Amino acid sequence: MSLFNVYPLNPIAITKAAGSRVWDDKGQEYLDMYGGHAVISIGHTQPHWVKRIEDQLHAIAFYSNSVVMPIQEELATALNNISGKKGFQLFLCNSGAEANENALKLASFHTGRKKIVAFKKAFHGRTSLAVAATDNPSIVAPVNETDNIIFLPFNDIASLQKCFAEQGTNIAAVIIEGIQGVAGIYEADDAFLQAIRKCCDDFGAVYIADSVQCGYGRSGQFFAHDHAGVSADIYSMAKGMGNGFPIGGILIAPHIQAKFGMLGTTFGGNPLACAAALAVIEVMQQDHLIKAAEEKGNYLINALKNTEGVKSVRGRGLMIGFEMEAGLEDLRKVLLNDLKIFTGEAKPNVIRLLPSLAISMEDINLFLIGLNKAIQVLKQKKD
Ligand SMILES: Cc1ncc(COP(=O)(O)O)c(C=O)c1O
Repeated sequence: MSLFNVYPLNPIAITKAAGSRVWDDKGQEYLDMYGGHAVISIGHTQPHWVKRIEDQLHAIAFYSNSVVMPIQEELATALNNISGKKGFQLFLCNSGAEANENALKLASFHTGRKKIVAFKKAFHGRTSLAVAATDNPSIVAPVNETDNIIFLPFNDIASLQKCFAEQGTNIAAVIIEGIQGVAGIYEADDAFLQAIRKCCDDFGAVYIADSVQCGYGRSGQFFAHDHAGVSADIYSMAKGMGNGFPIGGILIAPHIQAKFGMLGTTFGGNPLACAAALAVIEVMQQDHLIKAAEEKGNYLINALKNTEGVKSVRGRGLMIGFEMEAGLEDLRKVLLNDLKIFTGEAKPNVIRLLPSLAISMEDINLFLIGLNKAIQVLKQKKD
């Protein structure tokens, strides 16, 4: 049987990983500035994370959500502490799309309304409602098409206010990434997030902060949306939450009430996933990784801004995007094939850096040296 061919693959088989390094099946080592797409938060195969999953595996891996699971309560308490979202409630699922799907559905249940405001270039996942709220028609199947989603320009307060003035009483939720990731690393302005908060308050809509990529400390705050100084009603989380163990979830403000059967899942919140998520929070707290993301991010952003050939740099903490001058379009290929450095991309020509928050300064400097070398290689080819 062949694999369903939906991913354009690099012909590299990664078979081993530790920290910010990965190795292929031939023993070649790579520096991972991509974090497996913002997933690796505390480092590949981090020893405490491995041990906590291993211990849990010997105790119990799975039981259904029909019984009390103390480890879910433990995770809820740990998340309240690290996020600072006191009194929020936790619903656990398995991925980012599922987290947004549940967030949107919950907002509709809570308000009794159907309309969702999303933004141009947003990416919220590939399940039914999440993909409908994603601004990319090529991944929306005919069955997912709906006129319940209103797409507005990103960071445009006037359009937002106009939309609420015209149809605010029909709007269930506004969903927004604190930093748009797939679009190419674009930050939501503080004033824009504050305006969303106000519109949602004025019209009784739910503010959903999609923190799947920009959350979990990556921006230098637990949620990137926190930089704006206002709280959302629902935060969706996944990627960094399990450091590679599949888990997602939503944090839900105290005023949104649960009802039996409203949401549900078979695998969400299973003990193994909770053990992985707890290990992540424990390491983040013990090693002060949110602060580290801020400091190392500032260093990296500054260095990139002073790198010849780099046209523009965007982002916060260890969620960084940069564009190269004309003629350097092959940079990502040279970094991977010649310098053995994994980076991410966003079309048409943004390089995305999403490394582990535990990446060392030594590895960051190695990346910068590699980047300069790759730029020289490309410049020589051009001349
Ligand atoms: C902002 C954002 N939301 C949602 C998703 C979907 O997450 P998943 O692929 O885990 O379903 C992603 C994935 O890239 C994302 O970047």
